Amino acid sequence: MRIAVYPGSFDPITNGHVDVLRRAAAVFDRVIVAVLVNPRKATVDPADERVATIRASVAEALAEDSPRIEVVAFDGLTVDLCRRIGARWLIRGLRAVADFEAELQMAHMNRKMAPGVDTVFFMTALEHAYLSSSLVREIARFGGDVAPLVPHAVLGRLAGTGPSAEGAPEPSAGEE
Ligand code: PNS
Repeated sequence: MRIAVYPGSFDPITNGHVDVLRRAAAVFDRVIVAVLVNPRKATVDPADERVATIRASVAEALAEDSPRIEVVAFDGLTVDLCRRIGARWLIRGLRAVADFEAELQMAHMNRKMAPGVDTVFFMTALEHAYLSSSLVREIARFGGDVAPLVPHAVLGRLAGTGPSAEGAPEPSAGEE
């Protein structure tokens, strides 16, 4: 069975992530979406909420593939998760050439640690090439409309982060 892990912060999941997941599900028998638990990084939602939102997004947008898609939270090294569950492929999305250098470095490092695990890149559809979780968070924080950018399930999670939200969390910048 061809098992792949799609790791990420997913803070929040965007239509670009869903697009990559759809492409991966067309190639692999099982895809495990692995949500990073990083206690050092502030996120809009804790990992268990991000897992729940991704599960709802999969049910909403990828219903046909959903029996073969699992969503889990993980900490530690992605390659260790791959070894634990017998996954031989890692999925990452590429939007533009700007993503490539960091992704290449990560893919080589993961291969160094786990030669039996290959990274497979899927290019997002052009319409998602400008989309990132950090931009979605910023637009939501200033009251912009993120409905065209994220699955429906995410909208409720972002609802409390707008300009009128007291004490809305401020995740660290600079990540996907
Ligand atoms: O969505 P992101 O933030 O771009 O995802 C980054 C992620 C989670 C794939 C990366 O940070 C990761 O794999 N973290 C787990 C720890 C790890 O394995 N680090 C070594 C990477 S070479």
